[in-house]
Amino acid sequence: MKDPENKVAVITGAASGIGRGMAEAFAAVGMRVVLSDVEEPALYAAAAELRDGGADVHAVPADVSQAPDVAALAESALRKYGTVNVLCNNAGIHTGSRPSWESTLDDWAWILGVNLMGVVHGIRTFLPVMIEQGEDAHIVNTASIAGLLTGGSLYGVSKSAVIAYSETVHLELIGGGFKPRISVLCPGVVSTNIFNSHRNRPARFAEAGPFPTGWSEDAARQGFALGLSPRTIGEEVLQAIREERFYILTHPEYAGHIEHRMTQILHGENPTLLPMPGS
Ligand SMILES: NC(=O)c1ccc[n+]([C@@H]2O[C@H](COP(=O)([O-])OP(=O)(O)OC[C@H]3O[C@@H](n4cnc5c(N)ncnc54)[C@H](O)[C@@H]3O)[C@@H](O)[C@H]2O)c1
Repeated sequence: MKDPENKVAVITGAASGIGRGMAEAFAAVGMRVVLSDVEEPALYAAAAELRDGGADVHAVPADVSQAPDVAALAESALRKYGTVNVLCNNAGIHTGSRPSWESTLDDWAWILGVNLMGVVHGIRTFLPVMIEQGEDAHIVNTASIAGLLTGGSLYGVSKSAVIAYSETVHLELIGGGFKPRISVLCPGVVSTNIFNSHRNRPARFAEAGPFPTGWSEDAARQGFALGLSPRTIGEEVLQAIREERFYILTHPEYAGHIEHRMTQILHGENPTLLPMPGS
């Protein structure tokens, strides 16, 4: 998309972190932005702050794991602005790192419901509208570097699936001669509130597996505070939309880790971990 200026973007998980950073970056070039999130007070506060800064924004609460919520989000966005050109399927959660077999079925249902099915609902709902509109359109799915590396437990499983699904949609769009384009965002550590994902854990998935011994929210907060700023990621996403670039890898320090995994696959070696950058 050569000129995202004045276009309409819908961003899920826009009340905090990377989604909020995308909203700021998009609004700064004059895009109209539909902010959506499951956390309503934070959503309305973020929308008010962006509006105070002169942005044209519209706030719509939605739980991306629920298909009817995503359908209602699309209806509201189209009613407000008449078109949707950019969709960022960004909402996501982390259930904590523990041995996968100690994770509960509620952990699995919650994380796959938000991180994977949220993306599925976004694409099923918005892509037919974008194709029908016949205008330039772009979808960005937020995965993670965890989806490209080994050892990410439930989170890594959910993000690997988002990468695989995004690649599939990219090939389907190109192969079918459709106009919309798609990208997958794979960041390393970003300074957000993801360490505190359980603030949004629904009561229906209340049974959580144990956090590993020694885990503390304070330590997690400090670790994530060292990450890149969400606004930096938002700017990178905007640039990738302009370039119609599929893979958005924001942390080059993980390149050796990706290569290590691919080499092990090609050489038939069993998976091993390299130390993480900064550890
Ligand atoms: N922070 C990182 O280091 C990092 C790295 C790689 C990928 N990511 C991914 O970035 C995305 C954004 O996360 P973040 O780090 O900005 O965390 P964050 O917690 O700051 O923001 C996530 C937002 O998603 C919202 N959300 C949670 N469940 C939702 C649901 N069911 N429906 C709608 N909204 C929901 C939250 O309310 C929150 O506003 C996620 O997909 C995450 O997996 C984060």
